[in-house]
Amino acid sequence: MAADTSSGPTEAPEEEPLNLYRFPALYDTLKTPDDEDITAVRALMRRFVGNGPWSILDPACGPGNWLRPFAQEASRLAGNDNCPEMVEYTRQTTGAHTVLGDMFELAFEDPFDVILEASGVTSLLPDIDTLARWIGSFRRHLSGRGAVILMLNFDAPVPDRLPATLWRTPWREVPGGEARIHYELLRDEPENHSQQIRRTVETRGGDWPRRIVESYDLRVWKREHLDALRDVPGFELTACTDPAAPAKHQAQPEGERLLVFKPV
Ligand SMILES: C[S@@+](CC[C@H](N)C(=O)[O-])C[C@H]1O[C@@H](n2cnc3c(N)ncnc32)[C@H](O)[C@@H]1O
Repeated sequence: MAADTSSGPTEAPEEEPLNLYRFPALYDTLKTPDDEDITAVRALMRRFVGNGPWSILDPACGPGNWLRPFAQEASRLAGNDNCPEMVEYTRQTTGAHTVLGDMFELAFEDPFDVILEASGVTSLLPDIDTLARWIGSFRRHLSGRGAVILMLNFDAPVPDRLPATLWRTPWREVPGGEARIHYELLRDEPENHSQQIRRTVETRGGDWPRRIVESYDLRVWKREHLDALRDVPGFELTACTDPAAPAKHQAQPEGERLLVFKPV
């Protein structure tokens, strides 16, 4: 009989936690932008870039759900993401030129009229200096008439009792079944301009994991952060608007805001 060389009971290999980004079709269906938000972004493009068609780049494109709505109005669509599943899905479903890479190291040859990130990836960045550096890095990827349009999440009144639901969808059709998503605010730490969020995706039918539960910290930007963004080298902060009222140029930064940066 062979000697037992193990040091204890056999342990099952640790499973990697499920991550929604690995399931682009779920993310796409659950987080498709609504018509109002698309109209608000289109109005900013017309106002600050000029009439289309526009060449558009999303530097953290996810499943391309902010590229797809502009497919008919774009001279060129491009997406970059550091998640291979997202890159492949965006390429297949939007026809965009896609690149797998870090959003700080964009590698596109020709400049774009619009660099657009409207899903709040900025809230994943650690601090305002990193955000300013990211915006500055877009300069060489922007055409002369171009603009950078970013959605930032600013602090807003928080419910008295936590955890609290921030947003949830009804069941929506996904290939082979249905899925829904639920965002909860678990903890608010205004002193660290940070919030802990729990995101739960449930599915029924289809070949999907039944539940994907993730908790993560989000930066929630404050008014003074907006001031810091006025000094990004090579750019001018041209507008801060409420997506629900795109004509209101210098809205108070509270909740979701669209920021427009023009090259100088
Ligand atoms: C909040 S989603 C935004 C998706 C997309 N912009 C949209 O509008 O739907 C975040 C995406 O950013 C990508 N991402 C996060 N950090 C990144 C980085 N450092 N470089 C490139 N992509 C990144 C993730 O893989 C994910 O697909």
